[in-house]
Amino acid sequence: MPGMSEPATSQLSDRATGTLDVERVRAEIPALGQRPGGRPLCYLDSASTALRPRAVIDAVRSVDERDAGNVHRAVHALAVQATDRFEAARERVRRFLGAASADEIVFTSGTTAAVNLVAQTFGRQRVGPGDEVLASVLEHHSNLVPWQALCAERGARLRPIPADAEGAIDLAAFEALLSPRTRLVAITHASNVLGCVPPVARMIELAHARGVPVLVDGAQAVAHGAVDVAALGCDFYCFSGHKLFGPTGVGVLYGRRAHLAAMPPWQGGGHVIRTVGFDEVTYAEPPARFEAGTPPIAQAIGLGAAMDWLEALGPAAVAAHEAALVRHALAVLPLVPGLRLLGPGPGAARVPVFAFTLAGVHPHDVATIVADEGVAIRAGHHCAQPLHRHLGVPATARASLALYNTTAEIDALAEALGRAARIFARGGA
Ligand code: ALA
Repeated sequence: MPGMSEPATSQLSDRATGTLDVERVRAEIPALGQRPGGRPLCYLDSASTALRPRAVIDAVRSVDERDAGNVHRAVHALAVQATDRFEAARERVRRFLGAASADEIVFTSGTTAAVNLVAQTFGRQRVGPGDEVLASVLEHHSNLVPWQALCAERGARLRPIPADAEGAIDLAAFEALLSPRTRLVAITHASNVLGCVPPVARMIELAHARGVPVLVDGAQAVAHGAVDVAALGCDFYCFSGHKLFGPTGVGVLYGRRAHLAAMPPWQGGGHVIRTVGFDEVTYAEPPARFEAGTPPIAQAIGLGAAMDWLEALGPAAVAAHEAALVRHALAVLPLVPGLRLLGPGPGAARVPVFAFTLAGVHPHDVATIVADEGVAIRAGHHCAQPLHRHLGVPATARASLALYNTTAEIDALAEALGRAARIFARGGA
């Protein structure tokens, strides 16, 4: 395809030994070269948004500079080039997810829009008075609030799937919750707070055994390992481009072809229709039916470039590096005086996301103090208030890592946290 970025051939990892050359990977990410306040940047906020490699930045720029026409609308060169690249990105996403057909890939503005789309179409078709939707206590608000709104509108009930203090789903309780009233299960593929990975495949099996469809929120999973929607067997899978080293403003809804074909459009507008008169409208087939208006063209193409970049690093090399980061964080962070690490301990399936509290220091103060040292973390409820209520804390600090982080950065975080603890032990900042 014109301008489609080729998978990088640079030796950023030794795929035979599964070793990632992290310094060379870092050199490909311009934002990492900054020195906030004159100190080296230690970016540990990738669960909020992952930093973008030059391959993605270049792909987006090449659309703006060259293939800058609109998609699906014209026969001139710029429009054809844009359309070819946009549809190639859809095929790239299909391959990334292991979907059967590119028609099962809908571009949205992000995970939130994808979940809302399903709630407002599939959900409205299926959920009625007295029905139930199940979602886990781990969920981000974007996988709760759309279901709450739907249930409120329909006279249905949103019921929590319980988990223990480390975030492990209670499978027996989940099974007991599945009933003839259950219309849908919404479950995260990885917690944005605790980093735990629920047994999603087993949950899908249990739900499907009762004829209940499952939507998986993959926002925090896609950057940390291969996703295979066919193997998972999920009905819907959602994620955002910017958590996957891609641009902001683009996301993906994967939906099984039979579901998408039976769903009405969510938003009206150009591209969703086959014919329009003043008295009637007929709709296009999926995915066009769900992509009203001009889509995020450059962003989708940038997302395709991010997938090429990630694949070229070698999934085994990335997995081994991230496993080493997890081991190091679980060994080093608990040694900080007063630090309480939440979430699963060693050996559990997880992504490199670590929520913690520091005795006597509010999480916002923790984040502010370490930011002064160039360490970027997030503090608050991380859009997961029910989970924080479940954990018995109003807020946490969170370090979230990606493949470009190093064990030295975990050490820098631990040192900065130790200093924050000492400042507050002396009586304030
Ligand atoms: N969902 C993003 C996070 O967890 C914004 O930080």
